[in-house]
Amino acid sequence: MCGIVGFVGKRQAAPILLDGLSKLEYRGYDSAGLAIRNGDEPAEVVKSKGRLKVLSEKTDNGNALIGNCGIGHTRWATHGEPSRTNAHPHVSGNCTGTGSGEVESEVVGVHNGIIENFKELKEKLMKHGYLFYSQTDTEVVIKLVDYYYKKYTHSPQEAIAKTMVRVRGSYALCLMFKSHPGEIWVARKDSPMIIGISDGETYVASDVPAILKYTRNVYYIGNLEMAKLTPGEVTFYNLDGDVIEKELTEIKWDAESAEKGGYEHFMMKEIHEQPKAITDTLNSLIKDEKIDIDSIGLSNDEVRNISQIYIVACGSAYHTGVVTQYVMEDIAKIPVRVELASEFRYRKLLLDKNGLVIIVSQSGETADSLAALRLAKDKGIKTLAIVNVVGSSIAREADNVLYTLAGPEIAVATTKAYSAQLIAGYLLAIQFAYIKNEIAEEYYKNLIKELYTLPQKIEKVLEDKERIQWFVAKQANAQDVFYIGRGIDYAVCLEGSLKMKEISYVHSEAYAAGELKHGTISLIEDGTLVIGVLTQSELYEKTVSNMVECKSRGAYLMGLTSYGHYEIEDTADFTVYIPKTDEHFTASLAVIPLQLMGYYLSVSRGLDVDKPRNLAKSVTVE
Ligand code: F6R
Repeated sequence: MCGIVGFVGKRQAAPILLDGLSKLEYRGYDSAGLAIRNGDEPAEVVKSKGRLKVLSEKTDNGNALIGNCGIGHTRWATHGEPSRTNAHPHVSGNCTGTGSGEVESEVVGVHNGIIENFKELKEKLMKHGYLFYSQTDTEVVIKLVDYYYKKYTHSPQEAIAKTMVRVRGSYALCLMFKSHPGEIWVARKDSPMIIGISDGETYVASDVPAILKYTRNVYYIGNLEMAKLTPGEVTFYNLDGDVIEKELTEIKWDAESAEKGGYEHFMMKEIHEQPKAITDTLNSLIKDEKIDIDSIGLSNDEVRNISQIYIVACGSAYHTGVVTQYVMEDIAKIPVRVELASEFRYRKLLLDKNGLVIIVSQSGETADSLAALRLAKDKGIKTLAIVNVVGSSIAREADNVLYTLAGPEIAVATTKAYSAQLIAGYLLAIQFAYIKNEIAEEYYKNLIKELYTLPQKIEKVLEDKERIQWFVAKQANAQDVFYIGRGIDYAVCLEGSLKMKEISYVHSEAYAAGELKHGTISLIEDGTLVIGVLTQSELYEKTVSNMVECKSRGAYLMGLTSYGHYEIEDTADFTVYIPKTDEHFTASLAVIPLQLMGYYLSVSRGLDVDKPRNLAKSVTVE
């Protein structure tokens, strides 16, 4: 969580930093701040509680802050409440109250991550006369850097290296030293950070969208590495202070994809980008009508040897894993366990040596998923990452990577990355089945052909969005919503329910349809909205019966099924149809109306769709 940016170059820094932060607000948005240097003068620090807008207004969109070098931050509170004092940047000077001691401070910095041993370090620093004005772990790191800087050789590189050895936890740190004007120093461990470069200018940010407008040429800084940024140049160091060489990577995402492009919210734009995300992901893996898994580094022999698959992820990525489980087991006949990364990492695991651990993550930075990946690698199990963000930690550390090509996803609630992850799961299942001779050539080809029809079928569902908007308007006062389904439909319910609660703050639950009567049905009362998802013909009648059970207790029923199942209208009060497809792939279509429902309910309640309260897009803390 938290977004950090830095800029050193020819232009005025503050407007560029504010623009970059606006692309990172999805990472946190309870307070924000900037530190700007004008030549040799000490940094000027401006912070404010609340959204970035407040900071922008306070600084006349950055125009009021003069200087070509600066750093900025948008916060998602971990240590200390959201407040101006706890907002970053933090300074090393012994100021009180507001954090405005920049004049006497040697070090000023911003941080994303968590310093686990900050209490112990704080005590040590207090013994050396440091006073603390905030409750943050960040202020401790800044002061620790200052302490080492003054104690040893007055070299930023050494002071940062000593700090990195001393702190435990995760960090992407961006620092400026009063005695080193025109330089920004950065260091990283387990929190994302990229460095961009263009003619005479250098940028640093937590994520690509923040700098995409200015440059596509980036460096990825590794774990336990640091770098010195000067205009148009970067020097990387390892912990020993040796200079290390890095390759420049070109980002393929276009700048427009990080803008709203005429839509009112990123979420709606991203919902409409799902056909493209799917097509791009299919095209990247399907060559000459065959799925090319060589390109992700898996050989046919390796696939034949897989005796167990573990899909490990969090949130919506976990939900795609549940869909993949059904599809993989059905067609490839490989047993699959789907695990929440936060549980997987602490269980006494009995992992099968011939297993494959698949980590699914949009950001590639989710702390629990990254920890699960490392655990699997430590145990010598082969790992494959399904990741959207190129060069992210999970992508770099996994043995093999399958990139989803959803492009940058800005809305906190995932939509297009979810859809692309589903495609990745289908492709693996189909190819594994084919390699293991579980499916015939003709069926294999038909499945691939069918996948290519999904984008156009999604467009068809989207054409009907006003009807869903109309229905949702009638539900604006809903208190509880239940989603029920079986098999793949249950997996879709998990995602539909999450979309509803995370952006519209309406309590909702997803239940395997047969499970409701084992307790939860007692919550159904007059008018409770129950959404039945029924796309699996074998399970259709069963789910209808469960819907009827709810109706007899007063529920108001919505049915979500494929065209042709018109008899559902005898049971449901409102029905949404999706185009027919191979039943392994129905999640890709059925999820669309459910995403729209969450969206419209959030809008009708006047909520911040793209940045729901208490959430951050990339969860880089445990
Ligand atoms: C919900 C959502 C989250 C993420 C989860 C994992 O809309 O976006 O549940 O799916 O935080 O994030 P990644 O995929 O980045 O690991």
